[in-house]
Amino acid sequence: MPNCLICKTEFEPFVDFGQMPIANDFSKNKNNVNDYRFPMKVGFCSDCYMVQLVEQPDREKMFHDNYAFFASTSSYMVEHFKVFCESIINRQSLEKDSLVVELGSNDGIMLQHFMANNIGCLGVEPSINVANAARNKGIEVVSDFFDKELAESILKTHKKADAILGANVFCHIPYIHSVYEGVKTLLSDEGIFVFEDPYIGDVIEKTSFDQIYDEHVFLYSALSVKQLASMHELELIDIEPQVTHGGSMRYFIAHKGAEEVSERVKNLLLKEKELGLDKATSYSNFSMNIDQIKKDLINLLKDLSNKGKKVVAYGATSKSTTVTNYFGITPDLVDSIFDTTPTKHFTFSPGVKIPVLPYEKFRESNPDYVLLFAWNHAIEIFEKEKDYMKDGKKWITYIPEVRII
Ligand code: SAH
Ligand code: TYD
Repeated sequence: MPNCLICKTEFEPFVDFGQMPIANDFSKNKNNVNDYRFPMKVGFCSDCYMVQLVEQPDREKMFHDNYAFFASTSSYMVEHFKVFCESIINRQSLEKDSLVVELGSNDGIMLQHFMANNIGCLGVEPSINVANAARNKGIEVVSDFFDKELAESILKTHKKADAILGANVFCHIPYIHSVYEGVKTLLSDEGIFVFEDPYIGDVIEKTSFDQIYDEHVFLYSALSVKQLASMHELELIDIEPQVTHGGSMRYFIAHKGAEEVSERVKNLLLKEKELGLDKATSYSNFSMNIDQIKKDLINLLKDLSNKGKKVVAYGATSKSTTVTNYFGITPDLVDSIFDTTPTKHFTFSPGVKIPVLPYEKFRESNPDYVLLFAWNHAIEIFEKEKDYMKDGKKWITYIPEVRII
């Protein structure tokens, strides 16, 4: 049996997705049969409540100088991080000589707003191509993986951080104890450590199983974050639910005893226990719900294919790698995927090798049905495409269940 990455307790996996490719491995080569695969299983530790991948590929296989995800492709997310930035400036009364450190700063989607407000900031971003996109915006970035050693090295040239931030990055890091030690070292006495990630409560409620892929080693709850923080003399003092990425949670952590724990934290901890997020049995239904979605979606796609309907997909998301590979969605069922990210254009999707084409060609592809892989951006995308889709074309979604819209 595997051991928990947080507390070393043995646990039993509750879902087995089989052999999976790297979720962002969009390849120029259609015939590459030697693509890397890893066994993707997920488990729950009933001791510290952490939901986690049993095995994760080496970090250099996922984060490198050709990382496919550029955060700023979503204008909704650009605005989201502007509001996030402003809320931190106000909460911590940040000024010109303050220092904000963001981990996983990607193309500068969040730090650009601190720059615009003249607040000192530093990004930490190991994927060099996206780090360079941030540097082109004038942001100082260290291209390395954050951990205890990197925090110590940052302190040789920078003051302690008034705020340490991260979005959709702490769920990526299996050596999380070293990261928390780094945060503990780098954070000023009154500083705040704020991060947000997809929330396990939403994943279970919506059966958004596609949040599980190689990069997402942890799916956090307030229960598990509280435990993890307390192992490093840090304390979960506040939470704020977010609608992003299909339901995320923002966690506020301070040095132990530095701030009062809010009622919101206490209420969420109670709610999570009511929902059974502290019990292994709650996770077994999840696996059955995934198989129902699999059956319904494959039946629908086969039926449409038999009727000669053209189905294309929208958004070459990392999430869709789990969907296509676990369900067996191949180019005979979904003709192509359209996406706005230039580095994904004229590639083939990981594993099942569906052609990925520039968004500009979406309308001329003239589909009957559009499978929405970027379902977490549904509001933004439905608004953008409402005139085009009026013309008898239909969306297919599969979270929380298979539906034609
Ligand atoms: N914060 C952005 C990007 C999330 S993608 C957003 O929310 O949209 C996750 C990013 O974290 C990637 O750019 C990846 O290169 C980076 N990353 C992975 N491991 C990291 C680590 N140990 N330290 C800092 N960044 C890391
Ligand atoms: P994201 O939601 O971050 O998904 P994941 O974390 O699973 O990779 O990525 C969204 C993808 O969808 C990205 O490749 C860009 C693409 N996209 C479009 O093609 N058009 C759009 O209007 C939006 C919002 C995203």
